[in-house]
Amino acid sequence: MGLSTEEIMQASLDLVGWEEVPDDSTVYVPGEGLETALVGIDLGSAEIQLAHREGFDLALAHHPAGGTARTAFTGVLDRGIELMTDHGVPENEAEAALSDLRDRLELGAHSANYRHDPSIAELLDQPYMNVHLAPDELGRRRFVEVAERMDDDASVGEFCGTLGGEIRELREAETDVELRLGEAGNDLGEVAVYHAAGTNGGASVARTFFEHGIDTVLYIHVGPGEASELREEFEGEGKNLVVTGHIASDAIGLNEYVDELESRGLSCTTVSGCGIGRD
Ligand SMILES: [Fe+2]
Ligand SMILES: [Fe+2]
Repeated sequence: MGLSTEEIMQASLDLVGWEEVPDDSTVYVPGEGLETALVGIDLGSAEIQLAHREGFDLALAHHPAGGTARTAFTGVLDRGIELMTDHGVPENEAEAALSDLRDRLELGAHSANYRHDPSIAELLDQPYMNVHLAPDELGRRRFVEVAERMDDDASVGEFCGTLGGEIRELREAETDVELRLGEAGNDLGEVAVYHAAGTNGGASVARTFFEHGIDTVLYIHVGPGEASELREEFEGEGKNLVVTGHIASDAIGLNEYVDELESRGLSCTTVSGCGIGRD
């Protein structure tokens, strides 16, 4: 009885209909016959020890914690190219919008201690893995589904209200859905949901969308410098940046994944933001 780490990874792929494990998701310490898991958005060395001490068969994190999920992370940025070309952005411009971000993340990944957390799990022989892109894709689909249901003449304020009202994780989180660029009364117009592409696209991806006729960009988080850059450039032009809240938004896909794992017989205990808006 119980599941292997491979089967637990496969469950995430099954939910989104993918064949291959994304570059940002990996098994650090494999295990079999797993019946209990500690599941959290961020689980590092401290939580690995907690999982070990409390007798959890598996520590299951969302954010990459080392190994190839850290060193090869920039592979998933290519998903962002697809999200842009789907909205009519030419491929070369989509690449250009991501080139700075790709450089920064590559340098960051190269300097990071990719062994820190995995090595602690190895020392304790504690099964440990992270699953990132697939749960985010579930969250992205929820946002797209809400955007597609909005009336043609809806305002961006109404969109924020619908997201925060209908999606339980957003409703119950301590963070709100925020408008970081634009006025609530602006037309919603065409919406680009940019999520499940590694990380947010910063000012450059939002700018590229705006320059190609998209009215509203949705990120789950954005840096303060990036938001002010966009406000300087686009304030008063009817463009909008909706930010749904990082942890609340990560919880959307993770909760669905946890439900699936429980239905396959893995008993999950949620911490570190996973489980917001879930019974
Ligand atoms: Fe995420
Ligand atoms: Fe995240």
